[in-house]
Amino acid sequence: TRYWAVIPAAGGGTRMNSGRPKQYLSLKDRALIEWSIQPFLDAEWIDGVVLVLARADSEFARLPIARHPRILTTLGGGARAESVLAGLEVVAERSAGFKDVQVLVHDAARPCLHGSDMERLCEEADDDHGGILALPVSDTLKRARQHKIAETVDRAFYWRAQTPQLFRLEPLIRALKECAEHGLPVTDEASAMERAGYQPRLVRGRESNIKVTYPEDLQLAGFWLAQAQR
Ligand code: C5P
Repeated sequence: TRYWAVIPAAGGGTRMNSGRPKQYLSLKDRALIEWSIQPFLDAEWIDGVVLVLARADSEFARLPIARHPRILTTLGGGARAESVLAGLEVVAERSAGFKDVQVLVHDAARPCLHGSDMERLCEEADDDHGGILALPVSDTLKRARQHKIAETVDRAFYWRAQTPQLFRLEPLIRALKECAEHGLPVTDEASAMERAGYQPRLVRGRESNIKVTYPEDLQLAGFWLAQAQR
């Protein structure tokens, strides 16, 4: 088995209101994205990391990490799934000839991933169906209809999806292309695989693996990084 990582980082990050893509905001003396990439560089069993950048990106090339020999870059598209597909095409070129290629897809906006969780995902995911890091929901969940509660659902059935998500390269490319052809929205790789009939395994992650979306998330990420380094 060969392992690759694809990190989509071509989003606008408009919910941050920071005037600059969130992955370049600074977090404990490094850019947020450098924290997100680091666990994959530390894992020497991963052949390479494909970083998917926006056409207008002028910031990545300036980071110290940009010259790392195991990082490749490519250009992304207008939707997350398009960006991931662009990254997967690079993996397909680089891993041509290998039969069993598994790809970890990770949000550039998740800087607090523990390397040990990524390893556990690779061990516990199903060889064919793949798997994702996720957490059971602890709040009581309401289904809404126009800002009113329609019903309370059984939270035992619900998990929050995180990244990384691990899938075999070829089925993932097919699944994402299939969704694109039908114009189906895809917010994570697992949803595309589900539509293609796969049943990805849920591997319990941890609370600290947050996706930085709003300005206040940045402080929380700083807290979790400090915890991890103690
Ligand atoms: O928007 P959201 O927070 O769900 O984005 C998750 C990840 O997908 C981010 O790392 C973002 O940069 C990436 N993305 C992308 N191309 C897009 C949209 C989002 O690479 N067109």
